[in-house]
Amino acid sequence: MRVGILTGGGDCPGLNAVLRGFVLRHARARGGEAIGFLRGWRGLLDGLARPLVPADVVDLWNVGGTLLGTSRTNPLQRDDGLDRIRATWKAQRLDALVAIGGDDTLGVATRLAGAGLAVVGVPKTIDNDLSGTDYTFGFDTAINICAEALDRLHTTARSHGRVLVCEVMGRQAGWIGAYAGLAGGAHATLVPEFPIDFEALCALVRRRRQDGPGYTVIVVAEGASLPDAPGEVTVSAEKDAFGHARLGGIGERLAARLEATVGGEVRAVVLGHVQRGGAPSAYDRVLATRFGVRAADLVHEGTFGVMVALRGTGLVAIPLAEATGELKQVPRSFYDMIEGVSG
Ligand code: F6P
Repeated sequence: MRVGILTGGGDCPGLNAVLRGFVLRHARARGGEAIGFLRGWRGLLDGLARPLVPADVVDLWNVGGTLLGTSRTNPLQRDDGLDRIRATWKAQRLDALVAIGGDDTLGVATRLAGAGLAVVGVPKTIDNDLSGTDYTFGFDTAINICAEALDRLHTTARSHGRVLVCEVMGRQAGWIGAYAGLAGGAHATLVPEFPIDFEALCALVRRRRQDGPGYTVIVVAEGASLPDAPGEVTVSAEKDAFGHARLGGIGERLAARLEATVGGEVRAVVLGHVQRGGAPSAYDRVLATRFGVRAADLVHEGTFGVMVALRGTGLVAIPLAEATGELKQVPRSFYDMIEGVSG
C-alpha cells in the first residue's frame, strides 16, 4: 500500500514520534510505502512530497517539531482545493492518507473522508481540546514546561514580594491553564470557560500580602477574559485560514489592572511558543508512537474516515466527524476543585 502522511496546524512535541511509529509499522513491518507531504495541507495542494523510509524516522522518537514541516493552510478555502488534492492523490498513486492534526486539520480530513477519500486522523494539539480523545500528545509536554516555569516563578516572586501573572496557551480551552495551575501551585488559575472574578483576585493578593508570604503567582490562559471586557484578547485583528485570531495580551492587561488596583509590583510573563518546543515528554513519546502504529494498522485493515483516540488506557477508532464536532472544555466541577486547593 502507498500511504501519504502529513502534519498540519501548530506543531507540537511528539509529531515526529507519530511519523516514526507509523513508518516503522507501515513500511518496515507491513511492507508498505510511505509518502510524506510537506507543510500540512499545502503539500497536498501543491504536490510537495518526499518518500519516508524507516531510516528517515528511526532516530526521531525524542525530537521536537516535525520532519515534514507544517502550516495552517486550509485547502477547502479555495474553490479548486478538493480537485487539487485529488490530482495530487492520483499523481502520487495513494491508497490512503494519514492526517495528524488538531480540530482544523482533522476538520479538513473529515470533509475529505465525506468526499470519498480514504483518510485516517491522528489527534494532536498541546491544547488537549479534542472531544473525541481523553488526551492528545503534546499536552503532557506543554504542562510539564509550564509547571517547571511556575516553580521558577514562585522563587523569584517570593524573593521580591511580587505578583507574577503567567500567561499560557490553549485558545478557548483552559486545559493547559488548569493543569499548569495545579501542577505549578498557582495561587489563582484563570481559564476561558469562566469569567475572571477580579474582586476575588484583588482580595487574594491583599490577603497574601497581609497574612501570608507576601507574593502571588497567577496562571491565566490566553483565552480568559475580564467580565467588563468579555471576548478574546488578541495580538492583532488578523485571522488565520481557519478563522482564528492570534490570542495574547490578557496577562499584561490583568497585571496592569491589578497593579492599578492593589498597588505593589505586578509583572506578566508569557510562556508562548516555549510550550510547544523541544523534546516530547516520555508520556507523549509513548502516546504518539502508539497513535502512529495504530493509524498504520487501521489503514491496513481498510478502516477509514476514523480518528485514533485514547479512551482510558486503550486506543479506539472513532468517526472523524465525532472527533472534531465539539470543543472539549474544562468542566465547572474540575475548576471548582482547582479553586478549592488554590490560594
Ligand atoms: O492550538 C495550539 C496553539 O499553540 C494554541 O494554544 C495557540 O493559541 C496557537 O496554537 C498559536 O498558534 P501560532 O503558533 O500559529 O501562533
